[in-house]
Amino acid sequence: MTETWILLGATSSMARAMARALAERGDGVILAGRDADELQAMADDARLRGARLAETAVFDARDPETFAPIIARAETLEGTINAAVFVGSMPEQAQIDADPSLIDGTVTDSFTGPARLLTMLAPVMETRGKGTVVGVGSVAGDRGRVGNYVYGAAKAGFATYLSGLRNRLTRAGCHVVTVKPGFVDTGMTWGIEGMFLVASPDKVAADILKAVRKKRNVIYTPFFWRYIMLIIRSVPEPIFKKLSI
Ligand SMILES: NC(=O)c1ccc[n+]([C@@H]2O[C@H](COP(=O)([O-])OP(=O)(O)OC[C@H]3O[C@@H](n4cnc5c(N)ncnc54)[C@H](OP(=O)(O)O)[C@@H]3O)[C@@H](O)[C@H]2O)c1
Repeated sequence: MTETWILLGATSSMARAMARALAERGDGVILAGRDADELQAMADDARLRGARLAETAVFDARDPETFAPIIARAETLEGTINAAVFVGSMPEQAQIDADPSLIDGTVTDSFTGPARLLTMLAPVMETRGKGTVVGVGSVAGDRGRVGNYVYGAAKAGFATYLSGLRNRLTRAGCHVVTVKPGFVDTGMTWGIEGMFLVASPDKVAADILKAVRKKRNVIYTPFFWRYIMLIIRSVPEPIFKKLSI
């Protein structure tokens, strides 16, 4: 079966790992993001690894004019169209507290930009009656914490959006996987102190592909974050509000 994946935020460390895995099994990849040179290098690499199709596309979550060409290209693709969202930005909470205007971009990157594009793509997938959407959220979306509550709120919003999109697309035979990584060794977390149980981008990509294969709805990666977050979510608010975790 012909499968093509549109990877949004393709230069992310996790997306790079996923693009390598998809190319090696012969899927097509459309690498969408802001850094044209990096995307071109990735497309060349994907072709060498065996990708049936490897293209780049301009995608900036903060610039809706970049969305329509991606949808137009999707409409011309043969076979199954899948999409995976890796876009996100995490300014330090202290920076946001000092400059609340940073909230807009943070929410646009992790939630409203990708949600707008996926909402435009949904009818194309519904017409085909197949395909998978993968949305990368975060464990940070499971509970607002003092250290990153704006980023967490954006991820919570995206997770709720994905839940509704799953409900919609399942009626057309399509599937939506919500991915909640814990700490992952990527550019986003470079230099952050106090991280523990840090996973590799390759581990996250492998977990995502397994979840797609098994049609899982929501996954934590690595799996044990499901239990860590269960504990964190069950701390009563009068106690939680005094913690700095
Ligand atoms: N690392 C972790 O511990 C962790 C944990 C939980 C969830 N996550 C989530 O995992 C996803 C992948 O992140 P990562 O850890 O692999 O970090 P990363 O390497 O920094 O990737 C972030 C990606 O988002 C893209 N991006 C940011 N703003 C954008 C915009 N306005 N338009 C288009 N693309 C934009 C970046 O593109 P550029 O290359 O152009 O900057 C980059 O490709 C993110 O959604 C992140 O929130 C990460």
